[in-house]
Amino acid sequence: MTGRIFSGIQPTHGIQLGNYLGAIRNWVKLQQDYECIYCLVDLHALTTVHDKDAMTRNTREVAAALLACGVDPKRSILFAQSNVAAHAQLAWVLNCVAPIGWLNRMTQFKEKAGKNREKAPVGLFVYPVLMAADILAYKATHVPVGEDQKQHLELARDIAGSFNNRFAEGFFPLPEPLILGEATRVMSLRDGRAKMSKSDPSDMSRINLTDDAESIVAKIKKAKSDAIVGITYDPENRPEASNLLTIYAALAERSRADVARQFADTPFSTFKAELADLMVDKLAPITAEMRRLMDDPGHIDAVLREGAARADAIAAPVLEEVYAEVGFLRP
Ligand code: TYM
Repeated sequence: MTGRIFSGIQPTHGIQLGNYLGAIRNWVKLQQDYECIYCLVDLHALTTVHDKDAMTRNTREVAAALLACGVDPKRSILFAQSNVAAHAQLAWVLNCVAPIGWLNRMTQFKEKAGKNREKAPVGLFVYPVLMAADILAYKATHVPVGEDQKQHLELARDIAGSFNNRFAEGFFPLPEPLILGEATRVMSLRDGRAKMSKSDPSDMSRINLTDDAESIVAKIKKAKSDAIVGITYDPENRPEASNLLTIYAALAERSRADVARQFADTPFSTFKAELADLMVDKLAPITAEMRRLMDDPGHIDAVLREGAARADAIAAPVLEEVYAEVGFLRP
């Protein structure tokens, strides 16, 4: 595979285990072989976060989390979306290409807008167009994400294709999703049929990268389980057991089948204790590093400032080409 990687994460509440296993760990691995651009999508976060201090704090915290997980700002570009003008500028052009009908099909908008769609901000509706702009501003070819972003990426491909057809054949590459690893959809600890999410009101439903060992152990202990002895992978009938098994496999970097064999006769409580141990083992160093980084906001800001300059150097010329292709006069 050759190409350029782009991906983004919303600085809403900090990072949970699903973000880590479904996306960020893959971001870190991909840096070995590809030019990678990773973005804190604060413009997207503004669709739901209307608290000035929380926005600033979360942006630094998520930056610290990414660095602590191993995103290397020497190899990769790490920056905040609002610091590179091309994202919002290209989004406008793409808003003028993407039909409303395509956006009406987006399931995440329906979920997030809830019952009262009339009151949802316009930004939430056009959110996936901004996502397409994020990717296309860098002519990125591959986008590592969790399963939940698949529909948005299909839309980004369609929008890229539509722009190419109208204005310039072959201008944008059609970006491909990279959905990698065992844990592409980590589920809630309280309900094996709901996605683990930063916005779930119950903190017990998720593992945050800021959780200390004690809370990890408590959350795994209280995680929903069933009465069957032995851990098996059967998402239809045993969603909770299957989720915990998947998390174990992903953390251990082993296959689900292999882990299922190991715990085939193990009672739930013993399995949970082993899972909690493994999780603390893997996450504690990240949490410690994150805390250390959070004590030095000046360093985080400097990393993001440099990242924004490097990102802008790629995106601004692409935007100029786009403006030329649509016929804007550049006197
Ligand atoms: P966000 O901030 O919700 O999540 C960031 C990444 O984490 C993945 N993820 C999960 N993976 C597995 N299991 C889960 N429970 C789980 N929860 C989250 C997401 O799939 C994502 O990869 N719209 C995007 C951000 C974005 C973006 C982009 C992504 C904006 N522009 C351009 C790629 C390319 C979002 O809200 O991700």
